[in-house]
Amino acid sequence: MRILVTGGLGFVGSNFIHHLMKKGNEFSIVNLDSLSYGSNFSNLSGLAHDARYKFVKGDITNPDTVRSLVGEVDTVVNFAAETHVDRSISAGAPFVQSNMVGVSTLLEELRHSNRELSFVQVGTDEEYGNALRGPFTEEDPLNPSSPYAASKASATMLVVSYVRTYGLNASVTRCTNNYGPYQFPEKLIPKSIIRTKMGLNVPIYGDGQNSRDWIHVEDHCEALELVMRRGKRGSVYNIAGRNELANLDLVKMILKAMKKPESLIEFVEDRPGHDKRYSLNDEKIRNELGWKPKHKFESGLEETIQWYLENEKWWRPIANEKTLSAAPWKLDW
Ligand SMILES: NC(=O)c1ccc[n+]([C@@H]2O[C@H](COP(=O)([O-])OP(=O)(O)OC[C@H]3O[C@@H](n4cnc5c(N)ncnc54)[C@H](O)[C@@H]3O)[C@@H](O)[C@H]2O)c1
Repeated sequence: MRILVTGGLGFVGSNFIHHLMKKGNEFSIVNLDSLSYGSNFSNLSGLAHDARYKFVKGDITNPDTVRSLVGEVDTVVNFAAETHVDRSISAGAPFVQSNMVGVSTLLEELRHSNRELSFVQVGTDEEYGNALRGPFTEEDPLNPSSPYAASKASATMLVVSYVRTYGLNASVTRCTNNYGPYQFPEKLIPKSIIRTKMGLNVPIYGDGQNSRDWIHVEDHCEALELVMRRGKRGSVYNIAGRNELANLDLVKMILKAMKKPESLIEFVEDRPGHDKRYSLNDEKIRNELGWKPKHKFESGLEETIQWYLENEKWWRPIANEKTLSAAPWKLDW
């Protein structure tokens, strides 16, 4: 199977490439990434001389680049996106560009290809918005709160429209919060670990009661592989970890595992439009594709903390005042 992975130098995309490469010779991968700030070559440094892997620097908004690569593969899995909610509050335009125009470009090139390729759009639980009334199913309406979530919701609606209008062989996933190795320091778990390691306070928005569902990135990758192989044309699949936790409780777990006092917690001004809860019903992917997560949250979190402690060389160059900021949505990116 020849796969075009877009955004494969970021957190989830690089874990997905590692996941497929472990399977042996079944897959060959072209990784298209624009090398924006969230990318990191060292995530995949072990593949530099692997004949099954090729890296191309380029942007998914560039039709010529996308056209030439679509000609080389059987399937496209799109991870490429601007991904930090706080940055989308400070400056939304890059989110429209990568997450909407980029997906539109991919879809147009797939539609005009003279072969039938399959396409998986990697989406997020944030597209559904605030889950105050219990877990969302795939049938629930999208109600995004941040410019990031709105751009992702727009993209996945565009994908579904291309299935209905042009018969494109595409499916969409919506996953909850991932944790694991290679996540950029600005996100909650790595930021809390790194700040603790550096002896800094650990900021928490508002009263810390906003809750998220956490899934190990390898479980997400396993689900994506199944959707890529057997997902039904036009289907949306929720992917959940079933580990809902208030942010405050999560940070307390990290501090406890790192043997640091809870007094390091610093409550800071909440960000605008902050959804109280994300929660997904994932019965469909469990029943239809036989997927379920393998990682237990407590041990997965401890392994992740250990990974960051052992890989200071990886995060040191990208851990700075901006990426570790307590209020990134107020910064001028
Ligand atoms: N991390 C999570 O918890 C999570 C949960 C659900 C869904 N997702 C989705 O998974 C995908 C990957 O998320 P992540 O956390 O790995 O993000 P990330 O920020 O770590 O990586 C994104 C990658 O995409 C690349 N990129 C951005 N714009 C591009 C463009 N226009 N052309 C080519 N490459 C571009 C970046 O250079 C980077 O390597 C995103 O679509 C995100 O919405 C992430």
